[in-house]
Amino acid sequence: MIRYYERQKTFWLRGKSYDYVMYVNGAGFLQNLHYGGRIDENDLGELIRRGDLLCPPQNVNGELALDAMPGEYGFFGRGDFREPTAVIERHDGASMSRFRYVSHEIRKGAPRLKGLPHARSADATFAVTLRDDFSPSEITLYYVVFDGSDALVRYAELKNAGSEPVRLKRAFSFCNELPSGDYKMLRLFGAWATECRVETTQIGRGVTRLQSLRGVSSYGLNPFAAIMRDGCTETQGECYGAQLVYSGNWAITAEKSFSGSVRVQGGVNDFGFSWELGAGETFVAPQAVLCYSGEGLGQLSREYADFIRERIMRPEFACSHRPLVANNWEATFFDFNAEKLLPIIDGAAELGADTFVLDDGWFGERNFDNVGLGDWVVNTEKLEGGLKTLIERCKKRGLKFGLWFEPEMVNEDSELFRAHPEWVIAKAGVEPVRGRNQLVLDLTRPEVVDYIFNSVSKILSENDIAYVKWDFNRDLTEFYSASIPANRQGEFAHRFILGSYNLMERLTSAFPEVFFEGCAGGGRRFDAGVLYYFPQIWTSDNTDGFERTRIQWGTSLCYPVSAMSCHVAACPNHQTGRTTPLNTRCVVASLGATGCELDCSKLTDGEKAEIKSHIKNYKQIEELVLRGDLYRLSNPFETNMFCEMLVSKDKTKAYVAGEVFLGGPFGGYANVLRLRGLSERKTYKIEELDIIASGRTLAELGVSVPQLGDFGAWAWHITESEEYKES
Ligand code: DGJ
Repeated sequence: MIRYYERQKTFWLRGKSYDYVMYVNGAGFLQNLHYGGRIDENDLGELIRRGDLLCPPQNVNGELALDAMPGEYGFFGRGDFREPTAVIERHDGASMSRFRYVSHEIRKGAPRLKGLPHARSADATFAVTLRDDFSPSEITLYYVVFDGSDALVRYAELKNAGSEPVRLKRAFSFCNELPSGDYKMLRLFGAWATECRVETTQIGRGVTRLQSLRGVSSYGLNPFAAIMRDGCTETQGECYGAQLVYSGNWAITAEKSFSGSVRVQGGVNDFGFSWELGAGETFVAPQAVLCYSGEGLGQLSREYADFIRERIMRPEFACSHRPLVANNWEATFFDFNAEKLLPIIDGAAELGADTFVLDDGWFGERNFDNVGLGDWVVNTEKLEGGLKTLIERCKKRGLKFGLWFEPEMVNEDSELFRAHPEWVIAKAGVEPVRGRNQLVLDLTRPEVVDYIFNSVSKILSENDIAYVKWDFNRDLTEFYSASIPANRQGEFAHRFILGSYNLMERLTSAFPEVFFEGCAGGGRRFDAGVLYYFPQIWTSDNTDGFERTRIQWGTSLCYPVSAMSCHVAACPNHQTGRTTPLNTRCVVASLGATGCELDCSKLTDGEKAEIKSHIKNYKQIEELVLRGDLYRLSNPFETNMFCEMLVSKDKTKAYVAGEVFLGGPFGGYANVLRLRGLSERKTYKIEELDIIASGRTLAELGVSVPQLGDFGAWAWHITESEEYKES
């Protein structure tokens, strides 16, 4: 809901449980009056009285400092001494600015952003235009509102309405002011094979900044932050999320002022950034998804999960059956031929998988990671008869066929590089940094995007391919393109990601029936921008049964479990060398889009039976993975147990899965789990335990966890029951 109170010049946005109120104050600035839980519209007068205290109406020329005013967009050099939201340098070098309200519009639905991923639908959008006092620059702030949701999409469009060019030195997407208080900031940090670890720190005075300078959203920090009010936990208290729908260099900052208020802002990273706007041109900053929860982090995560499924993912795939993949990577690495793969396909079918994915190594001279990348032509020496032989075998066994690509990359030892050495990101005379022996293609050049589109399209149109795994195995360096003028190199990083999005858009549109899975050596590019094109992402190269609990827990903070590819791998684990029981690996992999990452042709009968039963179980709970609500019951970062629970929206079904890791004294884990998310009034049966009890009792008394050895796991299936236990 969006309401305009004309007399008070106040705009009231309302979602499922938040209110967001702002007004044009007496000085003409757009000022925030409230963002948080529901308040009473009759109290508008009181809100304005409070707002006027922070920026009195007589402050028309900004004589008084503006750094107490909770602005909707921070400006620079005119008395607001906090960090600005935009910095616009004019041709004379001046960059002071101060924006005032000009006009607004309330529209139905969601705006479409050309070339950038965005919320696909919405109930209404509020767009408010501000003009600079000192230059012909305009900013339009967008607020995209969803009635049944606590997500609020924000972004900004900056316009050079003058006749001289201007240079944007910062152009963040949003500025969000939180009232005085003690807040903590939660972030997801990590590295290869250890993505999305959770760290929470107090927001002290000064600026706390999360960012990526790796050219991709990155393992280092995920483009997300949760700002938690004092006392906020998994199950209670207030928190605010900020998530960017963006996959390039980004920043999210939280600045605590003297008074204790906190300004949260973010968008494209301004470090190394500049963007020239010619007369009449606009720059559209990527969308940010803010989210409010008055019921702790768990509720925040559920709001984000719903939002991404309902508004970001391609609707035809968002909640559709996810391919049950058997992938050959950890089974063979580069060392395969048709003879080796055919039994793996047979094995995959026997297990109940429905898609076989041929990973890296099928093209060019690709027998190691320093050769062949970029040459998207089948290596018929390795695969006699091309892909057809494998595809035919898949068909015969009732499987679909999937294929790996790494479209944005090239090896120097490749036909592509030999033909077009100028197509890589590099600066003549400067030795480029190599990552995994490869260079990155310069996607700021349209001819490079065209070439990749054509060569990948050729393979996809000549073969019956149902699934694409789209990899990206290094960060960006050099940040330079010879095709961009010297004074505009600051545009490189953003232009690169626009090139990637263009490629993703073109390929997914040209092959709408193909299921695309994102990957970047695991979760290097796990973000809402990629999820707009690809409904699922390979969560991590780390498939260890213990490490996965933490990686999946962290990732679930702001992404739905159905976005995470979670495969059962062999032991000892390739990445950690650890051995965990097969049942444990299966249980953990059931809490996401499951599959197999092992040699399906070399399993013992016992292993086969166990994986078969895992896949059977997964099919039974798939609806919960695709559409259910996630309740995180036991935190693997803080306790000796991991446990998560999926509950159907109608609360008739649930699935609980967990793992214990002793790493301490036997029995060193809490042995009673309080179940959450069930209806208090319904009666449920826990199949494995033969327990029949009400949701209220299961939440209050909990259920005992079985006594298990190190890395032991369990799963419970819960259904609404008509039965009553006799007392
Ligand atoms: C990194 C991915 O994360 C792996 O799953 C695999 O596809 C390799 N790349 C292939 O090079």
